[in-house]
Amino acid sequence: MSDDIKILVVDDEPVILKSCKRILDAEGYKADSASGGREGIITMEKNAYDFVITDLKMPEVDGLTLIKWLKKSRPDIGVIIITGYPSQETIKDAIELGIIDYVPKPFTPAVLIDVVKRAIEWKKKKVSDEVKKEEEFPPSMIAELDRMIKGYRNKPGSLIPVLQRVQEMVGYLPPIVQKRVSRGLNIPAAEVHSVVSFYSFFTMKPRGDHIIKVCLGTACYVKGIEEVLSKIKKGLHIEVGGITEDKRFSLEAVRCLGACGLAPVLVIDHDTYGAISPKKVTEILDAYQPVTK
Ligand code: FES
Repeated sequence: MSDDIKILVVDDEPVILKSCKRILDAEGYKADSASGGREGIITMEKNAYDFVITDLKMPEVDGLTLIKWLKKSRPDIGVIIITGYPSQETIKDAIELGIIDYVPKPFTPAVLIDVVKRAIEWKKKKVSDEVKKEEEFPPSMIAELDRMIKGYRNKPGSLIPVLQRVQEMVGYLPPIVQKRVSRGLNIPAAEVHSVVSFYSFFTMKPRGDHIIKVCLGTACYVKGIEEVLSKIKKGLHIEVGGITEDKRFSLEAVRCLGACGLAPVLVIDHDTYGAISPKKVTEILDAYQPVTK
């Protein structure tokens, strides 16, 4: 197992680089070194690593900047920090950025190896949790997704069309599915995530067979949409943003549906219902049956 693990050590002190490399190589890991944050980034742009062990205090590109870059551009690389100045504040910042562990300088070979072993265990667990999450989707669906994504590989501007297709197939875009898109298109996971979060037509939450959009804009509010909304919530036992247990409906609130003259308004899928009342809404919902798949 050890010789499969690739580690990059980033530090501006040559003596630390040398001793880390010696300790890690002796243990059977494949260790490279970079003498600062900038060199670390350049090295990682050329090679793949499982872990980065980095100092925090370095000239030019410091450890926290390097960790931020890693989380954005190489989120799969586990980060361990090694520092002679572990102020509470800096450690807190690094932990918030998702580091796995830290080693205070000076350290013994045993401490370094112990931290690396713990980091490997942590990563194995992370991977197995991800596999479990993937298993929640039928294998045929995963295979179909991969086939479709592969068809778009190396085509410029394919991220949005792929995400649209994936959402049509899966119904939503949970992190595990975004990761598959990122791997399949060879686009950083952070870029996929920012596109999904930016466009309102993408959703990271599962949606029901029918989507109810209730308008909470001023015109609808004045005309009593609140009573309609509370009737829906009570009747379906869901809150705004939720999905019914049988996955028949999901409930969303919007600011204005652009049909203020018909207030109060709600839309179910592509059907607009104006002058809606709590009495009428139950009858309307009954007409939307579960979609058989
Ligand atoms: S405020 Fe409800 S449709 Fe405009």
